[in-house]
Amino acid sequence: MEGLRHTLGVVGAGTMGGQIAYQAALHGFEVHLVSRREERLQSACASSSALLRRRVEKGKLSAEACEATLTRVTTSTDFDALSGMSTIIETVAEDRNVKRDVYARISEHADEDAIIGTNSSTLGSSLLEDAVSRPERFLNIHFFNPALLMTLVEVVPGPHTSEAAVKHAMEFARAIGKTPVRLAREEYGFIANRILFIAIQEAMHLVEGGYISMSDCDLAVRNALGWPMGPFELSDLVGLDVVEAILDEGARQTGDTRWVPLPLLHDRVARGELGKKTGSGFFSAS
Ligand code: 3HC
Repeated sequence: MEGLRHTLGVVGAGTMGGQIAYQAALHGFEVHLVSRREERLQSACASSSALLRRRVEKGKLSAEACEATLTRVTTSTDFDALSGMSTIIETVAEDRNVKRDVYARISEHADEDAIIGTNSSTLGSSLLEDAVSRPERFLNIHFFNPALLMTLVEVVPGPHTSEAAVKHAMEFARAIGKTPVRLAREEYGFIANRILFIAIQEAMHLVEGGYISMSDCDLAVRNALGWPMGPFELSDLVGLDVVEAILDEGARQTGDTRWVPLPLLHDRVARGELGKKTGSGFFSAS
């Protein structure tokens, strides 16, 4: 296989897309970040730049490396910025129709040999492969939030994915400083979310059952299991709407009632209390 070219297109400039772009730039990649909305691009760049500049203040990154990283990310509202990119990661909303529309546009501009990875946590690439022009080069490349810090990347081939594409994805993840794991085949939740979200559901059952408060449950999980954040604080970080969508889709795809969201979560989402991004969720942001 030809050596990996250090070029990356990222489509979608939300929390995940922005940080994935800067993670790759930190490791020397030329990155084109594409979103339909200019404001999204600006805010993704501002927040990741601020995080990297904090690393400089803390002596964890040199000022030169930081500035070089920032200049490696180019933003665009035009999908033609994806041409010439060796790897393309899609990070848009977890909505099949939105993703289908985006794949049609990516397919118009991507190089023939580009690998396209979806960061989707709920839709295996086999549910979307008919929307891309070269399914053999398409698979899930799943990052964790916050992507500038969490080192795991799950590489999940569908039945249509070629071995060369899987190898490319593994090599790409290592080249941007991540630790990839390769699944043999698709399974709902892949590995980490499968374990994490069932554990979060158990925590919600305990609170709804009146056994413990949310803050004491978090305290227990942090101290007994060594999680850096308890399930409720972590849900606020991930976004309660995202947590509910993962659970809903899990219930749909697996038919297993363990995934069905509880009122504790659903009621907050219905009130627009989505966690850190709206200032309140299970807890209020301080
Ligand atoms: N984005 C980027 N960087 C962040 C951040 C964020 N949201 N929050 C904190 N950080 C950075 C800080 O800037 C700081 O960096 P610095 O040392 O360079 O200044 C560093 O993280 C440590 O921050 P703090 O001291 O304030 O806080 P913590 O020590 O508690 O670390 C954390 C924060 C790394 C987020 C840690 O609490 C953690 O690992 N939490 C668990 C995260 C997790 O489990 N993520 C997986 C979620 S599931 C998922 O993503 C799957 C998807 O499909 C839904």
